[in-house]
Amino acid sequence: MSGKETLALFGGSPVLRAPLRLYPAVGKPELKAVMRVVESGCLSAFYGSWGDQFWGGPMVRAFEQAWCERFGVRHAVSVNSGTSGLFAAMGAISIGPGDEVIVPPYTMSATAMAPLVYGGIPVFVDIDPDTFCLSPQAVRRALTPRTKAILAVNLFGHPAPLAELKTIAEQHRIRLVEDNAQAPLATEHGRYAGTVGDIGVFSLNYHKHVHTGEGGMCVTNDDELALRLQMIRNHGENIVEPKGVTDLTNLVGFNYRMTELSAAVGLDQLARIGDHVARREWVGEGLTKGVLGLEGLTPPRVRSGCRHVYYVWGLRLDESVLGVTRQQFSRALAAEGFPHSVGYVRPLYRLPLFQRRVAIGAHGYPFNLTSVRYDQVTCSVTERMHETELLTFEPCAYDLDAASVDLLVAAIRKVHAQRRALAAHAAARSANDNHAAHLAKGQVV
Ligand SMILES: Cc1ncc(COP(=O)(O)O)c(C=O)c1O
Repeated sequence: MSGKETLALFGGSPVLRAPLRLYPAVGKPELKAVMRVVESGCLSAFYGSWGDQFWGGPMVRAFEQAWCERFGVRHAVSVNSGTSGLFAAMGAISIGPGDEVIVPPYTMSATAMAPLVYGGIPVFVDIDPDTFCLSPQAVRRALTPRTKAILAVNLFGHPAPLAELKTIAEQHRIRLVEDNAQAPLATEHGRYAGTVGDIGVFSLNYHKHVHTGEGGMCVTNDDELALRLQMIRNHGENIVEPKGVTDLTNLVGFNYRMTELSAAVGLDQLARIGDHVARREWVGEGLTKGVLGLEGLTPPRVRSGCRHVYYVWGLRLDESVLGVTRQQFSRALAAEGFPHSVGYVRPLYRLPLFQRRVAIGAHGYPFNLTSVRYDQVTCSVTERMHETELLTFEPCAYDLDAASVDLLVAAIRKVHAQRRALAAHAAARSANDNHAAHLAKGQVV
């Protein structure tokens, strides 16, 4: 591919002529695992009261044990989603009304909902432009006497600055929780993301590296936090007396229990997690290598001492260097058959519940307990990523071989090589539009 061919947007042939093959999320091993559970007749063995079945059935326990061994942690508590894992984590560390929890605004919304469930106040802190994860400097500036925790997200598969955040948390005697939904097997200085904080939460939903349809896993090395997580997962209110638990804080229990079916699928997927992750890493690195050095484009950077596992491959565009807008670049790339999104999520502080200060009940709780304002948040890096810089591609969604990675790279290179034609076309269109607008107003042009 020379890159000189006419852009598909202008009638040329697209680089990718067929849609990419979707990732085959499950196969024969999962089918066998599920069949064994169905044949056993036990789809869940949890009881919401004290006794051996408080801990769940054989598959759930085996899955948790295997997770502990794989990630080198003392406790793994399975849950029925990453979201419920985050909620349980906030409950376990005793977040209460008015407590501030530092979160990034560029993440899936569940991260910021988790403190709210206990009346906690999410405090949005800006991200680092290279990794899209919390900036430690910004975290330090946001600390107040009401800060109880940092909820860091290992976004797109890259670890947040975990060691540094852990130091801040220890200095200020607050908790560090990791939302590790997107980064299984990512590492920072040899430590697995998700295992540095007091609690780490993994998501096992359908889109993730390893999945159980829906599901999640909380990990911790703290025995007390593990028990609290288990009680919140499974009707803790019934357990406190037989267990002799005296601190009742946040032990209103939920049903966050995982089924035996999900655990069986998870066990099988966990056995192959290394391959699942390595495949996405190979795709991410291949894309990066293919576009490195193209002016105006910055592929994901990997912080020294880290492993990135590429749940998302995020490409940054500098519109002023490229001479075209992200929107124009994206339209041309889409026409070449490259599936991607413009940006990631809307900065979370823009959600109506923050802007209108209505979350729990209709009367402003818990925002009426705080002076934190969401109409005045300025996270300039997040805004820039959202408004002009970021394009995202999801390696987890596709079954890619070397030929398809080459085609994806060729599509980017083709649009990049023809960015001047793209800019000229956009300028001509805009001149035409102006001309038409003047004519419609009856003005002489
Ligand atoms: C960063 C992040 N946090 C939390 C979640 C929630 O996980 P789940 O969908 O398993 O509830 C997700 C899911 O996409 C996520 O990406």
